[in-house]
Amino acid sequence: MSPSPALLAELLELAKEAAIRAGALLRDGRPADLGVAATKSSPVDVVTEMDLASEKLILELIGERRPTDGYLGEEGADRPGTSGVRWVVDPLDGTVNYLYGLPNWAVSVAAELDGRAVVGVVYVPARGELFHAVLGGGAFLDGRSVSCRPAPPWGQALVSTGFNYVQSVRVRQAEVLLHLMPEFRDIRRGGAAAVDLCDLAAGRVDGYFERGLAPWDRAAGVLIAREAGALAGGRPGQEPGGDLTVAAPPGLFEQLQGRLDEIGAWRD
Ligand code: IPD
Ligand code: CA
Ligand code: CA
Repeated sequence: MSPSPALLAELLELAKEAAIRAGALLRDGRPADLGVAATKSSPVDVVTEMDLASEKLILELIGERRPTDGYLGEEGADRPGTSGVRWVVDPLDGTVNYLYGLPNWAVSVAAELDGRAVVGVVYVPARGELFHAVLGGGAFLDGRSVSCRPAPPWGQALVSTGFNYVQSVRVRQAEVLLHLMPEFRDIRRGGAAAVDLCDLAAGRVDGYFERGLAPWDRAAGVLIAREAGALAGGRPGQEPGGDLTVAAPPGLFEQLQGRLDEIGAWRD
């Protein structure tokens, strides 16, 4: 059954409010001497006190407004719900950029209904940009409709990607680039997967791929990219996942997905 417009509107408003409030906290509350609070998968996979403060704000806001929804957040929140709605949240995507004062970082908030993303919001405070999409309703940047650029010839594609924090995966990612770098126009590494997917949606790159993303990195961004006209998947025939996330307009997507599979970009 398709979700009611009233439910979608409610989820979208709450996603926007959560992303904007957490984004303002991150932008205005960043201590001048911000340091690393903890590390996760490797010594360069860092968490700051602000990642944790952002997750707390969003978790509490959503818990107050919709107490029966489920919630999955990067910093440990994992709460089952009973309403069929589950929030998938990266409270600060691009932590390393944030730590260094680079502008590519975001709050990413997605709402899934019965396991399918129906609302996605990505707020990029340092760029003053709010992206959103509702399933079947198109993608928007600051309220204006956006769409991917048409597929270029393979050799002219500008493709963004990202690198995992785990060293063995990074070595392999560098090897994959040895194949692809001479084939494309160029590669971009922005440092925040949710922003990469939104930049694809806004026609600022031609394609995007990454190995090793978690659900919170991609949930909102994949919906926004798809609603902007991109195709998105994992390995051929699969949904975007931890192995691989690939997104590009029709015409480039199939080539990119096929080439990444040929190179074995999803494995060590
Ligand atoms: C990371 C960023 C980065 C991507 C990594 C992610 P975080 O998320 O999205 O661009 O390459 O795979 O883990 O740790 O900054 O939330
Ligand atoms: Ca992330
Ligand atoms: Ca994060």
